[in-house]
Amino acid sequence: MLSQLPVLIAPFILGGVSLVSAQSMPSNAYTPLSEPCPADFALIRNAGAPGNQTLSAGERAYISERKTRALPRAWAEYLENVQRAGSNAKATLPPYVSAILDSITDQPTLGIAVSGGGYRAAAFGAGVLNALDGRNASSAATGLGGLMQAASYLTGLSGGSWFVTSYAQANYPLVQELVFGPDSSRAGIDALSMDYGGWLANYSFEQPSDNATANTFFATTVVEEIEGKKDAGFNVTFADVWARQLARHFANGTTQVNFYDENVPHGAGITLSSVVNTSAFTSYSAPFPIVVTDLYLPGLGVLSTNPILEFNPYEMGSFDPSLAAFTLTQYLGSTNESVCVTNYDQVSRVAASSSELYNILDDAALAYIDGPLLEAYGELIGNTSDMLYAEWPNAFYGINGTGISFPATNESYLMLVDGGENGQSVPLQPMLVKARGVDVILALDADPDTEDGWAAGSALIATQAWASIYPESYTFPPVPTNISEFIAQNLSTRPTFFGCEATSSNASAPLLVYLANGGPPRDGSPPLMNVTTVVQSLELDELQGMLDEVWDTAVQGYPLVPGYMIPSEQGTEVLVDPEWPVCLACAAVERARARAGYAREGVCVGCFERYCWDGSIVGSE
Ligand SMILES: *[C@@H]1O[C@H](CO)[C@@H](O)[C@H](O)[C@H]1NC(C)=O
Ligand SMILES: *[C@@H]1O[C@H](CO)[C@@H](O)[C@H](O)[C@H]1NC(C)=O
Ligand SMILES: *[C@@H]1O[C@H](CO)[C@@H](O)[C@H](O)[C@H]1NC(C)=O
Ligand SMILES: *[C@@H]1O[C@H](CO)[C@@H](O)[C@H](O)[C@H]1NC(C)=O
Ligand SMILES: *[C@@H]1O[C@H](CO)[C@@H](O)[C@H](O)[C@H]1NC(C)=O
Ligand SMILES: *[C@@H]1O[C@H](CO)[C@@H](O)[C@H](O)[C@H]1NC(C)=O
Ligand SMILES: *[C@@H]1O[C@H](CO)[C@@H](O)[C@H](O)[C@H]1NC(C)=O
Ligand SMILES: *[C@@H]1O[C@H](CO)[C@@H](O)[C@H](O)[C@H]1NC(C)=O
Ligand SMILES: *[C@@H]1O[C@H](CO)[C@@H](O)[C@H](O)[C@H]1NC(C)=O
Ligand SMILES: *[C@@H]1O[C@H](CO)[C@@H](O)[C@H](O)[C@H]1NC(C)=O
Ligand SMILES: *[C@@H]1O[C@H](CO)[C@@H](O)[C@H](O)[C@H]1NC(C)=O
Ligand SMILES: *[C@@H]1O[C@H](CO)[C@@H](O)[C@H](O)[C@H]1NC(C)=O
Repeated sequence: MLSQLPVLIAPFILGGVSLVSAQSMPSNAYTPLSEPCPADFALIRNAGAPGNQTLSAGERAYISERKTRALPRAWAEYLENVQRAGSNAKATLPPYVSAILDSITDQPTLGIAVSGGGYRAAAFGAGVLNALDGRNASSAATGLGGLMQAASYLTGLSGGSWFVTSYAQANYPLVQELVFGPDSSRAGIDALSMDYGGWLANYSFEQPSDNATANTFFATTVVEEIEGKKDAGFNVTFADVWARQLARHFANGTTQVNFYDENVPHGAGITLSSVVNTSAFTSYSAPFPIVVTDLYLPGLGVLSTNPILEFNPYEMGSFDPSLAAFTLTQYLGSTNESVCVTNYDQVSRVAASSSELYNILDDAALAYIDGPLLEAYGELIGNTSDMLYAEWPNAFYGINGTGISFPATNESYLMLVDGGENGQSVPLQPMLVKARGVDVILALDADPDTEDGWAAGSALIATQAWASIYPESYTFPPVPTNISEFIAQNLSTRPTFFGCEATSSNASAPLLVYLANGGPPRDGSPPLMNVTTVVQSLELDELQGMLDEVWDTAVQGYPLVPGYMIPSEQGTEVLVDPEWPVCLACAAVERARARAGYAREGVCVGCFERYCWDGSIVGSE
């Protein structure tokens, strides 16, 4: 991406010449720039009251171009894969499915949400998206491949945001390449390269080396990279250090070869707004990425009524009535319409804000996870009481929500924390926004709900409770009200559809396809997908094993007998529901079917009987 270099290097050149010559290259590339605002600059966009909301012009254009230019082919290719898999399973889709997918006006709007949960969640998102990727021949052959290409939105929070931001900024490569980097022949790229090098998961975030001296040096190097930003007058906190750590794994610019090289930017300068210039984005071929964070209020914490903040390549803000406003991502850091800040919206700092859970760890856990870096931070920057929050200059100072006041209206900085701190670990809120018209959400949940670290629906329960606060803004399909019901009915150990019944409230809610990281592999192989959320590194073969287990989870469906066995990525055989790909297609078109006035029929009827949550079953407590 040579075309990116002038933009990325600019802060270095400016800084190097006159301003902060002592700073390292990454420090300069991480420093925001202040300039007079463009003539037509507006700091705030009012997003409208419930029932009268508008999307940004950029998002509107992207989604509408994608619908006409990219999605018709994407749905057609997906349909072909499903039909092939269906005919192998002797399950023929009812004609309305292809009629809907063939029609530009009837096609559904699909969103995919990737939960929090550290590397476990990032791997769950990556593994499922690989199984849905039509470019992977094995995925295409299962009849799931192609659904990724047909999605309009992709949201992530915390560990899920690592996946989503790395995927988007790396131009949506194949998941194997995203996670493990391009093949090694391309690893020896030149020092200035801003190419993508993979997650480098076997290098620990905090102590990448087994040489203690090298680790101390590493800690100092990383902390020094935020000094330029501090010197330029912006509040920095430990979240900036976290951003610089994450950048080495989830942003372009770091490879095995240059991992310890101080003279390469290590992802500094790569902004979320610059994603609009990647080729996947300019060709409308990728889902629109959104990262979710929570707002922390000094003295009050993360209240369920605090607006949920989203970052997308165009805007940051919230559709919640308690804010109902957005500011431009490219100019994040600006707080008025005279001085415009750029280079603040670094993609790794967006991911760091979404995964900033230091504020809920106790001192022992903090020291255990990040001791040397915290020490270096204390020495070089100075500890403060608010250092465990991600601070963003508050562009929304002094504004009101719609009917509800914006609770941070008097704060000069927004204090952001992990997107899961409100209990909603699956980032569903952006796709419940009615202006986005999302018909079906694939909710990927790798939150640790059970003692053994498996998901069991707490995130959906939290979203259900939250959505009821704003009945005019959000409609959420009914889900159980406690985890024991999820467990008793096996709702998290197989895909479950919520919102199947066409009641009047359901009709305006998206259909929810819930796919959870709900338990150990069914073929008896050792469980790898319940590593703890705070794990700092993974051996590459372990990570490959995790992705393989996720593949099995994604392709299995709900194998009631008669099912059949297919070779597992683990080398043994797994029992799969041969109709699962067909059933997923039935779910994908369900809202569009109702809209177009077709009756649910054929194999889809059986699919809904099998996969829908039957809300009338009372779980054993
Ligand atoms: C909808 O929003 C527009 C522009 O923000 C405003 O002019 C109009 O009055 C609003 N309509 C309603 C019904 O709230
Ligand atoms: C396709 O996915 C399978 C299953 O995870 C994986 O083993 C394979 O390497 C992938 N192929 C490509 C080309 O990425
Ligand atoms: C990151 O690198 C990939 C290829 O390695 C490239 O396609 C993409 O555009 C780069 N992203 C940015 C934001 O520079
Ligand atoms: C990570 O794995 C790569 C490839 O196997 C290896 O070259 C490198 O030394 C490993 N790094 C660490 C820190 O383990
Ligand atoms: C440990 O790292 C330091 C600093 O990079 C280096 O000087 C030293 O040689 C390393 N020690 C070993 C045993 O590799
Ligand atoms: C995208 O690229 C264009 C042309 O190089 C440039 O003018 C624009 O600033 C870039 N946009 C962002 C958000 O980086
Ligand atoms: C605008 O914000 C900048 C900080 O980004 C500040 O220095 C400047 O004084 C502000 N200007 C006005 C007119 O408020
Ligand atoms: C800052 O906090 C870290 C971690 O608690 C601690 O190791 C360090 O000594 C503190 N530094 C200062 C200057 O207080
Ligand atoms: C914000 O809303 C409150 C209550 O609705 C109202 O009292 C106040 O004047 C409003 N402030 C502004 C700046 O509009
Ligand atoms: C903001 O400050 C004003 C003026 O002091 C006060 O009336 C208002 O209640 C404050 N709002 C919030 C949400 O704290
Ligand atoms: C931002 O930094 C200033 C100056 O160090 C400090 O007074 C202020 O408390 C910080 N703001 C917040 C919200 O922490
Ligand atoms: C992972 O799950 C298995 C089976 O549920 C359990 O035996 C094991 O203790 C779990 N590991 C962790 C780290 O929780």
